[in-house]
Amino acid sequence: MQSLIRPRLGVNVDHVATVRQARGTPYPEPVAAASLAELAGADQITIHLREDRRHIVDRDVRVLRETVGTRLNLEMAATDEMLDIATDIKPDMVTLVPEKREEQTTEGGLDVVGNRDRLSGYLEKLRDCGAHLSLFIDPNPQQIAASADLGVEIVELHTGDYCEAAAPFTNRRRESEFDRHHELQRLKKSARVADTLGLVVAAGHGLDYKNVLDVAAIPQFEEFNIGHSIVARAVLVGFERAVREMIEALHAGRRAGAELL
Ligand code: PXP
Repeated sequence: MQSLIRPRLGVNVDHVATVRQARGTPYPEPVAAASLAELAGADQITIHLREDRRHIVDRDVRVLRETVGTRLNLEMAATDEMLDIATDIKPDMVTLVPEKREEQTTEGGLDVVGNRDRLSGYLEKLRDCGAHLSLFIDPNPQQIAASADLGVEIVELHTGDYCEAAAPFTNRRRESEFDRHHELQRLKKSARVADTLGLVVAAGHGLDYKNVLDVAAIPQFEEFNIGHSIVARAVLVGFERAVREMIEALHAGRRAGAELL
């Protein structure tokens, strides 16, 4: 039997900071959430420092740099301001993401094909700070090939369309089942393409305790960056338990996938 890659979990603590920023209090503390996530078995802590600082703020990045003992993954837009911060902080990993001020959360992946030269300049400078480099892209073979050409180590495939199609309680249930299958096939095909090109394949956006099972079953996905669903469950059951339950879901999905191989 083919040996299976253990799925790694990156816990995104942005929305712990969202609750703090909603009332302008010093709590809840995303740094404490990150420590609890690590105690519960998370492999990585992921944060997105947005231009408008709506959740994670500069101080969080600095303190997390000091306290995270696993791997700190800084998601950021390709801008001069963010490049200066990454150069100063030196996160273990940088994921370049697209960013629009008006969006509720990250919508769509980076257009690597259309922005090759601009991204190449930023990646060159980020390489100098020793960070593992990742690009957040749609599950699209052209975007994957362009990312491989730019020499990054990791591509994080945007799972948002799949998660939306997999959402329950929609008015479009029957169509949605068709879309769900279609989106899952896109993820499978893209993960294979990325793996063949020698890239580490990550998944992120919109993943929850149920929809993650079918994605974890795809053997090429090594890393999962998950935030909202974990923070939402943590409000009710506590942070460590919410993280442990997501790790269990990743492993259950991987085992179920292995049985189909
Ligand atoms: N990966 C990337 C690149 C993201 O931008 C986000 C959202 O900040 C996530 C993963 C986590 O998404 P979610 O909060 O929906 O789990």
